[in-house]
Amino acid sequence: ADATGETLRTPIVAVLGHVDHGKTSLLDRIRGSTVIEGEAGAITQHIGATAVPLETVSEIAGSLVDPTDFDLPGLLFIDTPGHHSFSTLRSRGGALADIAILVIDVNDGFQPQTIEAIDILQRTETPFVVAANKVDTTPGWNPQENTPIQQSYDAQSDRARSTLDERLYDLIGDLSDHDFSADMYWRVQNFANNVGVVPVSAETGEGVPDLLTVLMGLSQRYLKDAMAIDVDGPGAGTVLEVKEQKGFGTAIDVVLYDGTVTADDTIVVGGTGDPIVTDVRALLQPRPLAEIRTEKRFEEVDSVTAAAGLKIAAPDLDDAMAGAPVRVLGNREREDVVTEVEAELAALGVTTEEQGVVVKADTLGSLEALADAFGEAEIPIVRAEVGDVAPRDVTVASTADEERHETVIAFSVDVLDDAADRADTEGVRIFESDVIYRLVEEYEEFIEERER
Ligand code: GTP
Ligand code: MG
Repeated sequence: ADATGETLRTPIVAVLGHVDHGKTSLLDRIRGSTVIEGEAGAITQHIGATAVPLETVSEIAGSLVDPTDFDLPGLLFIDTPGHHSFSTLRSRGGALADIAILVIDVNDGFQPQTIEAIDILQRTETPFVVAANKVDTTPGWNPQENTPIQQSYDAQSDRARSTLDERLYDLIGDLSDHDFSADMYWRVQNFANNVGVVPVSAETGEGVPDLLTVLMGLSQRYLKDAMAIDVDGPGAGTVLEVKEQKGFGTAIDVVLYDGTVTADDTIVVGGTGDPIVTDVRALLQPRPLAEIRTEKRFEEVDSVTAAAGLKIAAPDLDDAMAGAPVRVLGNREREDVVTEVEAELAALGVTTEEQGVVVKADTLGSLEALADAFGEAEIPIVRAEVGDVAPRDVTVASTADEERHETVIAFSVDVLDDAADRADTEGVRIFESDVIYRLVEEYEEFIEERER
């Protein structure tokens, strides 16, 4: 800490992109572990946080990074499954993701979840770089394990080079169609106005040194002021997930972006009902370079300082909500902090109309993203809630004024059996998907067909 009591925290880097474009593989490459092998079907089921200290960044980046150029302590990566959980990671107060990597498979190009991710990045004004992944799949590619991309590029045949060039230019074109002026990262002068594209391979490690260098450089240049926090202040974070933790009862996975939380603290957590005020039972943390998700043996710690991913076990967390704020009470008034949490939750909420469809989603963030998409399509929402589709949701839908509103939109949630039964008898349509676009499209198609 300097004279003002402020310390620079680790920037939080969200990794997002379409399913199978290589987000987890890229993080694996960076942390040198094999999380992917432990995943069922190599699909990310949960969100994890991985801290990568500056020394590791500079080890991987080699000659590209001189650690003495940086005073940020490293990078905290957040892997996201497919697309939708990133919106959970947004937080009005804390801007949870400081910066992002948008992973795009160079062969596959822009896909629905790429577009959703880009919309979120645009809406939240989160700076990002594009990792143009899987360059090793270019026909005739001659892999150069872990080298900087230009060195690897120079080692390729003319034919491989021009195939890759073509794919990269298509990608830059797609970005420009979405109003982002983009270029290869080494040609970008001003990262505030231009998106840098870094060709990489999670498989061979080519370009990974460049990616880390660009991320460190961007963070240092544009985020340094925002990274100055009072480490001794009361901790503030966002709930990523609520789940059972063996021996501890219900616990929350949290990304802490400000201050400190200790094992003796009282915390206020946003929930489906009133904010939960509870005493920390245990703080659990994975070791550095370990993945919160696969690390079975957590270390019980006395305190954790931002930025970090941790588990907090405490009584009464059953109604805690993914995407909701977590605040350490500290020596502040209980009512003040409860009001603060309520206000932040309200800001995250969705405005509803007198008439419209019923919307259910798995997290606050996804509910918000869904409401945005429906708002844009001018489809009104009468009720928007986090949770599975229950019979009462069907009842609300069945009492709609117009037939077109007798609908429940279910995003990444289950439809309870008795709700499905009731929907059958009441003639209520339920649309289910894990892709926001698809829900909008399916609903619109349904309306069109009905009106024909
Ligand atoms: P979700 O978590 O499901 O959204 O996918 P993801 O983006 O995390 O993708 P993941 O890392 O699981 O990779 C998907 C598949 O692509 C796996 O079979 C990887 O081995 C493969 N893959 C990832 N990166 C590369 C790469 O650079 N080159 C090649 N050849 N294959 C890759
Ligand atoms: Mg993954």
